[in-house]
Amino acid sequence: MGRRQFMNLLTFGSVAGVALGGLYPVIRYFIPPKAAGGGGGTTAKDAAGNPVTLSGWLSSHKEGDRSLVQGLKGDPTYLVVEGPDSIGNYGISAICTHLGCVVPWNNGAGKFMCPCHGSQYDATGKVVRGPAPLSLALAHVTVENDNVFLSQWSETDFRTGDKPWWS
Ligand code: FES
Repeated sequence: MGRRQFMNLLTFGSVAGVALGGLYPVIRYFIPPKAAGGGGGTTAKDAAGNPVTLSGWLSSHKEGDRSLVQGLKGDPTYLVVEGPDSIGNYGISAICTHLGCVVPWNNGAGKFMCPCHGSQYDATGKVVRGPAPLSLALAHVTVENDNVFLSQWSETDFRTGDKPWWS
């Protein structure tokens, strides 16, 4: 290889390196980030933004409890405590399907009751009173190494037998 060829190669390599280096962040921008852990799930976070652990959650939430975590895309999502050692394998979105208010759990009534226009949902989030047209959205809940993860629910809605309206 002659000196000129060598210099051309060196110049081309440098230019290509700089161009690729500059393109890298642009390409990364268009590739969706992988969710951390949980077989593709998103880590559930508490109100302070800390990851939720099963043992920690069960130490402060009793059977029947429905309390909020930050779920998929940061949406408020209820975890369901089913017993002293377990949480439900589904989470319930707190976003009212009427106009989007956050629906609180009413422990005494055993329902989610929207303060905005009176919609009600049963303990699984199935709509039982309008004006909300649809049940609250679901997310899968999985536990790995004590860490709680949420992931998209795209299967049949077990409460209605219908396809999920949210996916
Ligand atoms: Fe919940 Fe209207 S936003 S009933």
